[in-house]
Amino acid sequence: MGEHIILIGFMGAGKSTVARSLSRRLQWQLLDTDSMIEARAGMPISRIFETEGEASFRRTESGVLAGLAERRSPVIISTGGGLPMREENRRVLRQMGRVVYLRVKPETVCARLASDTTRPLLQGGDRKEKIRALLAERGPFYEAAAHFAVDTDGKRPDQIAEEILTALGMSGN
Ligand code: S3P
Repeated sequence: MGEHIILIGFMGAGKSTVARSLSRRLQWQLLDTDSMIEARAGMPISRIFETEGEASFRRTESGVLAGLAERRSPVIISTGGGLPMREENRRVLRQMGRVVYLRVKPETVCARLASDTTRPLLQGGDRKEKIRALLAERGPFYEAAAHFAVDTDGKRPDQIAEEILTALGMSGN
């Protein structure tokens, strides 16, 4: 198994913020699959969904993940919320290092993403209901992909990062 630390979880769980905190504490480089996809496509994710569709986005996402699996020195990886839904991706994730699921309640996501315009899967219709349904559907896949989970509701990103490092036996680094 690789040595990377990989954060997975629903949109709005705080993956990017916690990943930044981990990156700062460990002095490890931070990589973000969404940013890498945007850089590769030369456009924001919402535009990729619009022009090429979700299936194309998912193919690029798996490609980016496979590329990351080649990296040697340990990094912090923040992933898009839908990435662990593919069985193949879950397998690759677990081979790359320690997979940490940032668990979040639907109410927290609703509050955080109430006016978000960047997540195509949450646009249009009843946002609360979409979040509730999607999170219920995805929960088991996140649990299956992760080595361990951290409940994040009501916690500060630094606190969550600290919890992760303690669980990994790396705190105080
Ligand atoms: C998605 C989550 C987004 C992004 C895309 C699809 C998903 O990333 O990859 O909009 O399917 O949950 P974040 O989890 O960083 O918001």
